[in-house]
Amino acid sequence: MKVLIATEKPFSKVAVDGIKAVTDAAGYELALLEKYTEKKQLLDAVADVDALIIRSDKVDAEVLDAAKNLKIVVRAGAGYDNIDLAAATAHNVVAMNTPGQNANSVAELVFGLLVYGVRNFFNGTSGTELLGKKLGILAFGNVGRNVARIAQGFGMEVVAYDAFCPAEVIETAGVKAAKSQEELFETCDIISLHIPATPETKQSINYALVGKLKKGGILVNTARKEVIDEPDLIKLLEERTDLKYLTDIKPDADAEFAEKFAGRYFATPKKMGAQTAEANVNAGIAAANQIVGFLRDGISKFKVN
Ligand code: 3PG
Repeated sequence: MKVLIATEKPFSKVAVDGIKAVTDAAGYELALLEKYTEKKQLLDAVADVDALIIRSDKVDAEVLDAAKNLKIVVRAGAGYDNIDLAAATAHNVVAMNTPGQNANSVAELVFGLLVYGVRNFFNGTSGTELLGKKLGILAFGNVGRNVARIAQGFGMEVVAYDAFCPAEVIETAGVKAAKSQEELFETCDIISLHIPATPETKQSINYALVGKLKKGGILVNTARKEVIDEPDLIKLLEERTDLKYLTDIKPDADAEFAEKFAGRYFATPKKMGAQTAEANVNAGIAAANQIVGFLRDGISKFKVN
């Protein structure tokens, strides 16, 4: 069996070594395609592989057509909106993710962005503290729960809303449950987004919702750019000069945001949420183990299609 790691944004070396230890132990061959710049490189590399490990790399019908032997693709991470699930199913390819494995890494970055934001991007002027501020977490999944835990360490008041997670579950984590996303935006100083990109959530973070934020409010996005209604957010930031937007995923209109909202807008140059050695090791090795578990033992836990 041949496994390919195809990562436009590479894992740390220690993670690749860890994946190799798993594939070696199973007697599988491991190939590596990193930092590719053309889709053609991916199409060529998948031609003879049985299993594929990816990150935010796009796996669409064309990639699946080119991967004649492919049986399984594992997204080493949480969000699998980069995989065409219907096409995978049509090609008899199992798709999986590795939920939770990079969650702490993403959650820690939320606070990196927040401290940078509330200290005015380290420009020497007097900023504010996180202690005592009210943090609203939108979606209480693996990342949201880690954000809540860290926020409690900062002494923040933590509130969460999740359309699919009952209030009682949220409250057992010592977090107040909001009744709606509107209530969350209305009552919090800072909102951290942890929703996946789905047909329901795309462009759902819009003018009406973000406009509910209190004076001096901050929106932090370590989820997906697609959940933001960009024209709406631009319009709102033009009107509300008190608001800040901090994001780990560059919007399509990054240049416009940067030009119009200097000092209130920050985007990481490259998505950094899951870019830690620990997250790479956790998600990468989980992906390798899931591949061996599936190919050797038929285990399909974490299948998403
Ligand atoms: C995820 O969905 O796991 C995160 O967004 C991390 O994405 P990345 O592996 O592309 O950094």
